[in-house]
Formats: sequence, structure tokens, C-alpha cells
Amino acid sequence: MPTALIILAAGIGSRMESDLPKVLHKLAGAPLLAHAMRAGLAVEAERIIVVAGHGAAAVEKAAQAIDADVEIVVQDEQLGTAHAVNQACAALADFDGDVIVLYGDTPFIRPDTLLDMLAKRAKGPAVVILGFEAANPGRYGRLIVNGGALEAIVEAKEATPEQLAVTLCNSGVVCANSKQLFDLVAKVGNKNAAGEYYLTDIVEIARARGLAATTVTCDEAETLGINSRGELAAAEAAFQTRARREAVENGVAMMAPETVWFAYDTLIGRDATLGPNVVFGPGVTVESGAEIKAFSHLEGCHVSQGAVVGPFARLRPGAEIADNARIGNFVEIKAALIGEGAKVNHLSYIGDAEIGVDANIGAGTITCNYDGVMKHQTVIGARAFIGSNTSLVAPVTVGRDAMTGSGSVITQDVPAEAMAIGRSKQVNKPGLAVRLMDRLLTIKANKLKG
Ligand code: UD1
Ligand code: CA
Repeated sequence: MPTALIILAAGIGSRMESDLPKVLHKLAGAPLLAHAMRAGLAVEAERIIVVAGHGAAAVEKAAQAIDADVEIVVQDEQLGTAHAVNQACAALADFDGDVIVLYGDTPFIRPDTLLDMLAKRAKGPAVVILGFEAANPGRYGRLIVNGGALEAIVEAKEATPEQLAVTLCNSGVVCANSKQLFDLVAKVGNKNAAGEYYLTDIVEIARARGLAATTVTCDEAETLGINSRGELAAAEAAFQTRARREAVENGVAMMAPETVWFAYDTLIGRDATLGPNVVFGPGVTVESGAEIKAFSHLEGCHVSQGAVVGPFARLRPGAEIADNARIGNFVEIKAALIGEGAKVNHLSYIGDAEIGVDANIGAGTITCNYDGVMKHQTVIGARAFIGSNTSLVAPVTVGRDAMTGSGSVITQDVPAEAMAIGRSKQVNKPGLAVRLMDRLLTIKANKLKG
């Protein structure tokens, strides 16, 4: 049975106190929306429809950057969750399968929970609602169950005191057959305390038609929704706590896990070592046995086994560090392949480059990759030795087993096995240092005399 996802993301999110649409605020290096979409990818959703409203253009752009196939429908006025789902009706007119409705501001729903809902749906009930035992039910909708059947969802605003005492609450996640869902949603009215079209009303409408509704439950932590920057910061903390624990459980060595920051998609191999205060942006893979030393910042890069990075290194998108390579302190690498066993140990910028196997890049070496308009490539051959403080003015190639003299500005290709020296020749003037110093001291003494 194919699955589609409808992600509700039209709300203004006024409590964020921000011009940025709420679902574009970042958690673990990715917009909240990306977290909801990711859960959908994990259940192999065939279609993903995002219902955008406030900041729809920005939401559309961000959603498409995450997944080019995502479809956006716009809900101009936010008239309620049922109205929001209804906006996806036309887009899914040709779709026949199960639909899962998620909120764009609820990032922690686990794929397994959605799979549980789909499995329960497959057993027959028309509507499956994800519920949770709330520590503090507050303004959540209450799930009124009788045996295994879900009889109704009552919004807190409409609930009787007895119903308010119920602690099983509505997460907002719904699973239903697409045709049935849109049929039910079309019947929802707005005669209630909020004057909104409540998606939750589909349960009673389904039952009135003789269709069954039921629940799947999950941990409250999964259903955590973000409404304010305080909640976002708390969610980030919760994410990091979990990611650190998982890393340790998976065999990553960390002396101070509480200081390491992971992104939503960080992959760290078993027996990798992470020093204190390492920060991972999105898109990083660190293989087994690699070591990332303290205070390094990595994003969009791949570190292979046996490589050592840092302390104080920065790996930017497209950095590919091969087996046993060394990236030392105050080194920045961008869009560059550092070959097996190669060393870039001190104070360097290597961008748009390919560094050969076992090459040694001396301290302070810079690839001058940008001419102010375009980026150019630097290629360094295997076992080349680049002298300290070499400027490599790209495009430029240094052949295998070649050398450059320290302080050289290399503007022409260097053939294999050659030595390139691109700096002014040294001249020694005998005795000049002492004569010069004497003269300067005399000038200063005369000045002081006035
Ligand atoms: C909703 C549920 C409630 C549940 C709670 C869980 C309804 C009527 N109530 O209440 O039972 O316990 O979520 O958090 O469904 N949205 C739109 N367009 C709209 C309205 C909402 O896109 O017209 C989006 C919002 O951006 C938000 C989500 O839907 O991401 C939920 O809307 P919200 O108004 O926060 O619902 P609650 O009142 O919290
Ligand atoms: Ca809410």
C-alpha cells in the first residue's frame, strides 16, 4: 500500500518572536520541517505534501532544498487543522493509499511509530490516531477510548471536567486511507469554541458512518511540538542528549560527550574518537578508528579510517579525508580530497584541491583558489613536498614527488620530481645589521635631546 505524507506547516508560530517561519528554525542543523520530512522518507512515502501558509515562499524553497520532489500547497487562511488537510485534497486526487498527517513543528516522531500506525491501519480501522500519556495534559485534545476503540477526540476547550481528567492525549498524527480521509475532512464543520475546522472531528464522523477508529501510543517525548525559542532550545538539548548517548552506545570514544554537538544526520563509526568540544554540522561521516581532536568544526565532509583531524581544525563541505591522512591545528579544508596518508598539519587553507597520497603540505600553505569571480583547482601529486608558507595560485598543478621552496608563490605548473622556487633571491649584506642599528639609535638619541 503506497503512503503519502501531509505535513501541516501553515501556522504563524507567533510565539517564536521571529520573521522566519517557525518550521524553518533549525534543530540539530536542519529546519524543523526537515525532521518531519525525514520521518516520512523513512516510511518510504511516495508523496510528501507540505501545507504552507505564513512565509509559504520561504517554506517552499527550504522544503525543495531538502527534497526536490516535495509538493507545496498553500493554505491562505489558517482555519484549522481539518481545513489545512483539505488543502492537500486536489494534489492527492490521483493518489490511492494511506496518508499520514504530521505537524511540521513536531520533529521527534520516530519512523517506527509511523510504521506501527501503518501496520495498525492495515488491520482495518479507517482512522488511526497517535496518542500519548501526557504528564501535563493541559490544552491537548483528549482521546476518549472504549476498549480498543477510539470513540472521539475532544479538544480541551470543548471538554467536560470528566473528559479533561483523561490523560491520554492527541499528538495530532493521523493515519487513514486517502479517499476516506478527504471524505471525512470534507464533512468537518467549525461550530465549536474556537470557530475552527478541527481535524480531530473526523473520529466521530467516521464512527457515525460505522467506520472504526483506534489509537497507537508513543512516548510523550516523541510528540514534543516547538512553539517558542525556549522550547526549541530545550528540544535541541534533548536531541543532543540522545545523540550523545547513542554515539557512546555505538562504540564511539568520547571523553566529554556532553561537549560534543551532533547534527541530525551525523554518522560516526565504532571506535572513532571524538575529543571535547567537537561540533558537527550537517552531512558528516567519520569512519571507524578515525580521531577528531578537540575544538574541531566539521560539516559536509567525510573522514576515513585512521585519519586524525584537529585540534582546532575546520572541515567544510566537500572535504574528503582519506585513510590515515592528518589534518592539524588551524587548518581549513573545503571541497578538497586529501589523499591517503597526506599531511596538512599546521595553519593552512586548502580549498578546491586534490592532494596526492602521502603528500606533505607545509605549515601556512594556502591554495589561492578564488580570483574574485571564479574558483580554481589546485592539484598536488603523490608524495609532493610543499614548503612552508607556499601560496598556490590556482589553477595550478604540482607533479608527483615535486617540491616547492618555502615562501614560494607558485603560479605555474610544477613538473613531477622538480623543485620550484618562486620567491625573491636572498642577498646578504655583511655588517649592515649592526650599522643600521647604530644609525637608528643615534637618530633616537638626537630626537630625545630635542
Ligand atoms: C492540535 C489538536 C490537538 C492536539 C494538538 C497536539 C486539532 C483541532 N487539535 O491542537 O488535539 O492535542 O494539536 O499538539 O487538531 N496548522 C495549519 N493550518 C491551520 C491550523 C494549524 O497548518 O489552519 C498547523 C500548525 O502550524 C501546527 C499544527 O497544524 O503545526 C497544529 O495546529 P495548532 O493550532 O497548534 O493545534 P493545537 O491547537 O495545538
Ligand atoms: Ca500546537
